[in-house]
Amino acid sequence: MKMSGKKDATLRLACDEIQQYWKGKNVVLAVKKSGKTRDGFDIFDDGRAVRIESASSLGVLYGAYTLLRMQAMGQPLQGTISETPCYDIRILNHWDNPNGTVERGFAGRSIFWHDAPSASSGRARRAVDGVTSASTPQDNAPQKQDDHLVTIWKAYARANASIGINATVLNNVNAKPLMLGDEKLQETKRIADVLRPYGIKVYLSVNFASPKAIGGLSTADPLDPDVRRWWKEKANDIYRMIPDFGGFLVKANSEGEPGPMDYGRSHVDGANMLAEALAPHGGIVMWRAFVYSAKEGSDRAAQAVEEFMPYDGQFADNVIIQIKNGPVDFQPREPISPLLLAMKQTQTMIEVQITQEYLGESVHSVFLAPMWKECFDVAKAPDGFANFDKHIGNRKTAFAGVANIGDSRNWCGSDMAQANWYAFGRLAWNPDLSNEQIAREFLSLTFSTNPVFVTEMTHVLCQSRESCVKYMMPLGLHHIFADNHHYGPEPWYAPKGVRADWLPPYYHKADANGLGFDRTVETGSGATKQYPPSLYNIYNDLNSCPENLLLWFHHVAWNHRMHSGKTLWDTLCLTYEEGVREAEAFADTWRNMKQYVDADRWEALMKRYDRQARDAWWWRDACVLYFQTFSKLPLPDGFRPAKFKLDDLKRYRLVMDNYTAADMDKLP
Ligand code: GCU
Repeated sequence: MKMSGKKDATLRLACDEIQQYWKGKNVVLAVKKSGKTRDGFDIFDDGRAVRIESASSLGVLYGAYTLLRMQAMGQPLQGTISETPCYDIRILNHWDNPNGTVERGFAGRSIFWHDAPSASSGRARRAVDGVTSASTPQDNAPQKQDDHLVTIWKAYARANASIGINATVLNNVNAKPLMLGDEKLQETKRIADVLRPYGIKVYLSVNFASPKAIGGLSTADPLDPDVRRWWKEKANDIYRMIPDFGGFLVKANSEGEPGPMDYGRSHVDGANMLAEALAPHGGIVMWRAFVYSAKEGSDRAAQAVEEFMPYDGQFADNVIIQIKNGPVDFQPREPISPLLLAMKQTQTMIEVQITQEYLGESVHSVFLAPMWKECFDVAKAPDGFANFDKHIGNRKTAFAGVANIGDSRNWCGSDMAQANWYAFGRLAWNPDLSNEQIAREFLSLTFSTNPVFVTEMTHVLCQSRESCVKYMMPLGLHHIFADNHHYGPEPWYAPKGVRADWLPPYYHKADANGLGFDRTVETGSGATKQYPPSLYNIYNDLNSCPENLLLWFHHVAWNHRMHSGKTLWDTLCLTYEEGVREAEAFADTWRNMKQYVDADRWEALMKRYDRQARDAWWWRDACVLYFQTFSKLPLPDGFRPAKFKLDDLKRYRLVMDNYTAADMDKLP
C-alpha cells in the first residue's frame, strides 16, 4: 500500500479503507496533476500494483470505494475503470427540525439536531456498526454523547462518500430562524468538521425573515441596505467558522414561509441578495421553485412556470433554481416538471424525494430509481432543452434528494428503504446506470450475493414502483390522499372551508361522465402548453397521451376505449387489481428469501411486505368502490370481490402510525 500526493485527511481515509478491506494485490493511491479532475478517478493494474489515480484526494477516495465495491460484488478489474460524476453537487436535503423531529421522516429522529441533551434524545438510542447504546445514565454523560454523535456522523459521512454524495443540507426547508443563531452555527461547524474529510460540504436552509426574527431589524426586505448588510455579515461569520460552507437552500413565499414577495419584491431580488452575500466566499443559493399561490389560484400544476419564467436569465451566477421532478409534489407518478424544460438561461437542478412521503413511507418497499430515471429520460426530448445536467457558463450542476435518514438502527426505518438512498447517490454520479444494476449492487452489498436471491429480488425492486403506482394512483391519478396525511387513500376527503387544491376531488375530478384533470388547451387548464412542442403534442391529445399519464392531462369518459380495447372503467379496476396481485407476489418472494438473509432483517421486512400487500388491498377497495359511486358500472371479470365496505374504509384512516395489522383484522 503506497500513497503519493499531499497526505491530507481524505487521502488517509482512502488508505485506511484499502488497508482494512482490500484483499487483493498491492494498491497505489496517487494524487497527481495529470489525474482526473471534478472528483473523477482512474483505476488500473500496471502489472505490479492496482493504481488509483486522481487530481484530488477525494477522487482517490471515490476510487477506493469503487474498488471495494467491485471486490464485494466479485467483479474482476479488467482494463481501466475511468469515472467522473455527472453532477458537480450531489446533495441530500434533510428536513430535520432544530428540535430533533424530521418532517416527512419515517426513520426516527434527527441525527443532527435535538431539543436538549437529555436522556430521551433519540440519538442516545442509535446503534452504529453493531454497537448498541442503551440509554444508561452513564451513556448520557455529555462527553459520551458527543462521542456517540461523532460516531454517527462519521458513519453517515462514510456511507455517503462511498456512493459519491458530496453535500448535505442539515435542516428543514421550512427553516427556523434560530438555525442562524450562534448555538446552531456552532453545532453546524462541529458537523462540518466531521464530514469534511469525507468530501461532504454542509449547507443550511435559511428562513428569509431571519434578519427580523433574530437580527433585530424591522424588516427583511431584500432591497433594504440594513438587511443586505445583515446577510453579508452573517455569511462572513459562517465562513469564518466553516471556510468551505456550501451555501443556503431557500423555500420562500411557499406554504406560508416568508419571502421577498412579503415586501413587494421578486424571487430574483431575494435570491440575488443572498447570492451577493455568499459570492465572495464561493457559496451557492439553491432557491426552490416549489411555490404555489397563497390563495387558490390557477391550476396548481401550472403555477411554478407562471411564477418563475418571467425571471429566466436574471438570477445571479451562484443561484441554482431547485425544481421538484414533477409539477405538483412527489406523487407516485407525475410528468416531468415543465419548468425544468422551460428555463433556458438559468441553471436549474432537480429535487427528488428519497423519503417515501407519498409512496408508503418506510413501510412499503418501493425502489425509486425507475421513477427518477423516467424524469431524466423525458428530459432528453429533442426540443426539451433542460439545464439541470448542463453547465450554463461556469455554473455548477446539482442534483438534490430529500433524505430518508433518521436515528433508527437501520438509518431509514426499513432495510429496503436504504436502497433509495443508495440509488440517489449512484444516479447523481451516473444517471445512465440501469435500474437493474443499481438494484443488484444494493442487494449484493446489503444482504447476499447469492445469485438466486439477487436475481429474484432485483426483479421485485425494479417492479415495485410501477406496482405501487398501480395500487395507489394508476393511469395518471394523483394526490388522492387526505390533506396532510400522505399514507392511505382518501379520495372522498373534502371538508368545507379547506382550499380546494389541497383536496383530492380537485385532482381526480370524478363525476358521472368520467375521471381525471383536464389540462388541455381546448377545454381544460391549458397546462399542457407549458411543455415544449414535442411533448405538448403528445400530452394534449387524448389519443397520443401515454396511458400512464392519461388522467393527469385529460378528463376521460368512463366508457372511453383504451389501447387494449377495454373501457377506462374496466382498465382502472383491473390495474388496481394487478397492483394488489403484484404486491402479494412481492411478499411471497420475500417469504422464500429466508435462507439468504439473517433472521432479524428477514422478519422485519417480512412484516413490511405483508403489510404492503394488505395496504394495497385497502387502496384498491377504497379507490374503486369510491369511483364506482360515480361510474355506476359493474366490476369487471378478473377483479376479486372487495374485502372491505366503502363506509368502513371511510371511518378508518389508513395512517402509518395509528393503524396496525390487528386494527385491519377488526374491520367487518
Ligand atoms: C410537501 C410536503 C411538505 C414540504 C413541502 C416542500 O408539500 O408535504 O412537508 O414542506 O412539500 O417541499 O416544501
